[in-house]
Amino acid sequence: MRLRAAITGVHGYVPEDVLTNADLEKIVDTNDEWITSRTGIKQRHILKGEGLGTSFMAAEAVRGLLKKTSIDPKEVDLVICATVTPDYLFPSTANLVCTQVGIPSVGSFDILAACSGFIYALSVGAQFIEAGTYKKVIVIGGDKMSSIIDYTDRTTCVLFGDGAGAVMLEPTTEENGLMDFLLHSDGTGENHLIMKGGGSKNPASHQTIDNRWHYISQEGPQVFKFAVTKMADAAAEIMNRNHLTGDDVTWLVPHQANKRIIDATANRMEIGPEKVMMNIQNYGNTTAGTIPLCLFDYESQLKKGDNLILAAFGGGFTWGSAFLKWAY
Ligand code: UT7
Repeated sequence: MRLRAAITGVHGYVPEDVLTNADLEKIVDTNDEWITSRTGIKQRHILKGEGLGTSFMAAEAVRGLLKKTSIDPKEVDLVICATVTPDYLFPSTANLVCTQVGIPSVGSFDILAACSGFIYALSVGAQFIEAGTYKKVIVIGGDKMSSIIDYTDRTTCVLFGDGAGAVMLEPTTEENGLMDFLLHSDGTGENHLIMKGGGSKNPASHQTIDNRWHYISQEGPQVFKFAVTKMADAAAEIMNRNHLTGDDVTWLVPHQANKRIIDATANRMEIGPEKVMMNIQNYGNTTAGTIPLCLFDYESQLKKGDNLILAAFGGGFTWGSAFLKWAY
């Protein structure tokens, strides 16, 4: 009998502090009308407090997840964290989360696939379940984007926020769980969306700081052109090869980068806005956090057997999609 990896719980965390469009108007030359009409974003949550990194938010999400699934930390077999804003280059954020929540000495590692990170991590985690190797795998997506945002650059600072979400993967022999996934990448995206400093090519130096290379640098309109086609392509491709029409899809769970990219994806899938998970207005783009935070916000509306299409596009470039049948 075929084992599939089913999501058996989801939890999310966003920090209390909120940065509204009105707040940003006081910092850079922007306005609520521009931000709302170009992106759909109204506010984002920002993690404040000295010494708090992505692991803090991820650990909050995982604590909530363990509580609601009634799973003891000692039962967890593996933890994977998708992030581009790890607490450190090493140790990995997943290592730190395990220690913070009391998950003892199991394998844990990070995955870096920018805004597609959660779909990448979900498909990796599912392999361990489908192979029968592990029974309880936690997949986290989270980013403290405020740690790499230049709040003097109006073209990027209005877009991003902080947050994290986590799901529990467990085996099922029922016809639900992760049914299919697609992963893609194209390294030429480095020219359009990158954080240039802090890695082995441009280690931190006075020069990298002067050049503002420790902040995200994005050619927004260029990235938009790729994102709007590739995210829709990925959703359409996974629907085609699973013989799904718009009528068969219960929910689109899109990466929340820009409402216009989400609308284009929904149009291509021939589904109406009532089937699209959307919380970009509250959180902005939390990178690897967007998809699990959507699942968390919409959890009460999900029913067993619902067909979900996850789709994302981001830095790398990376993009991908997943077809999930909701399991509870
Ligand atoms: O999740 C990771 C992947 N990232 C994405 O998917 C983001 C993709 N890109 C986007 O979402 C959009 O490109 C943006 C929201 C970043 C920009 O929207 P756009 O429709 O592509 O831009 P536009 O052509 O309408 O506007 C660009 C203009 C520029 O001015 P000029 O050169 O035309 O005079 C910018 O300087 O808008 C200006 N601008 C702003 N104006 C007011 C850029 N940022 C702002 C701002 N407030 N915050």
